[in-house]
Amino acid sequence: MMDVEVRELMQAFVLSDYQVQEVYSRFCAEISKGLKRSTHALANTKCFPTYVQDLPTGDEMGKYLALDLGGTNFRVLLVSLKGHHDAMVESQIYAVPKDLMVGPGVELFDHIADCLARFVEKHEMRNSHLPLGFTFSFPCEQKGLKEAILTRWTKGFGCPGVEGEDVGRLLHEAIQRRGDAEIAVVAILNDTTGTLMSCAHRNADCRIGVIVGTGCNACYVEDVANVDLLHADFKRNQKDVLVNAEWGAFGESGQLDFVRTEYDREVDDTSINKSEQLFEKMTSGMYLGRLVRLILMRAMQSKVIFKLSNRREHFATALQKNEDVFETRFISEIESDSFPEFSKTRTIITELFGLEKASVEDCQKIKYICECVSKRAATLVAIGVSGLINRISDRRVVVGMDGSVYRYHPKFDAYMRNTMHKLVKSDKEFDIMLSEDGSGRGAALVAAVASKTK
Ligand code: GLC
Repeated sequence: MMDVEVRELMQAFVLSDYQVQEVYSRFCAEISKGLKRSTHALANTKCFPTYVQDLPTGDEMGKYLALDLGGTNFRVLLVSLKGHHDAMVESQIYAVPKDLMVGPGVELFDHIADCLARFVEKHEMRNSHLPLGFTFSFPCEQKGLKEAILTRWTKGFGCPGVEGEDVGRLLHEAIQRRGDAEIAVVAILNDTTGTLMSCAHRNADCRIGVIVGTGCNACYVEDVANVDLLHADFKRNQKDVLVNAEWGAFGESGQLDFVRTEYDREVDDTSINKSEQLFEKMTSGMYLGRLVRLILMRAMQSKVIFKLSNRREHFATALQKNEDVFETRFISEIESDSFPEFSKTRTIITELFGLEKASVEDCQKIKYICECVSKRAATLVAIGVSGLINRISDRRVVVGMDGSVYRYHPKFDAYMRNTMHKLVKSDKEFDIMLSEDGSGRGAALVAAVASKTK
């Protein structure tokens, strides 16, 4: 039996069936609002049309370059689509230094162009004129496949001079400034779109792509008739269009206030985008560790954990060091640890607090805290996924998933399915698949289907 005090402490993180239903209804209403021209401006979930209308068949062929910017790293990739649902990817990771994440936009794009040039040089492709797909994982209002206006930065980025601008143009100009490679940017896409495309490449029933990584978002296949926001001169001769929901922003009109806790408010208050991305702040890797850190601080203060230690002050100082000392990956490690050894948990406690022999009880309590935070995150993601599955007319829907939280957490998938079984309509069938390199393969596939359409 879990200790009463820690249960009490975590009570606000345990969503009741009523709360789940209520968040579900509010979420569905918000998606409808985002799609309609008349209510779009008021909606949190912007539901941007991506201008991608064809899912891959699996026969796509050819070589493509891809760029992937949106999390902790930046990547350049060379993707060879080989037909028969097959692809080969070579890639190179480049760090994005912290100061570039908030420095002038021009410098960020110059860095991207530099890395691209180095990659192209290394692979001796300077004059190969390969088409390039740019996975830019931030909210963009697309005017077409190649034109994407950044509406706001998220996930700790904040470079001035980019919001309101076409990131395709900024990239093109940075490539031109270097002047040493001829590269055509043929598509700009979100990572969720890439995930959907790469999963659809393998499984024809895939209709939704979800990321639970640094940020949290989804893309899905919508009936063109429901999408008001497409450009007037865009030909509506196809049935579907992929929509980037940007659901991380859900809750900004107060819809989640009845479930948000004091810890959620503090994480938001101390973030660089206060009052924005509130759903994301309850579900994604950038914030889950920060939530656990705040709860641990409270637990220590009220002697719920480390009750017998006279070094609590010292432990509290260790947590105060910075908001990211308790990394989100610790949650995955602690939840996959086994009773009563708790070897990973103990290593983390030693690393953080210098405490060598934490008691079994303390390890159990910390694990319970992590469980409550990640289970709530998975429940919220499942609410969103169920809302989208129920919107889609196909009876069978496969959901493609990616992102560090989903990928490395031992139970995120199981927690999600649990909630989905309650919310997905009984006449539907769903499954979840793990995406393989959505940002790279997905970018190549968008570029490939785009040239096919042309
Ligand atoms: C943030 C971005 C969104 C992206 C997600 C996952 O929510 O706004 O565009 O898809 O993170 O990376």
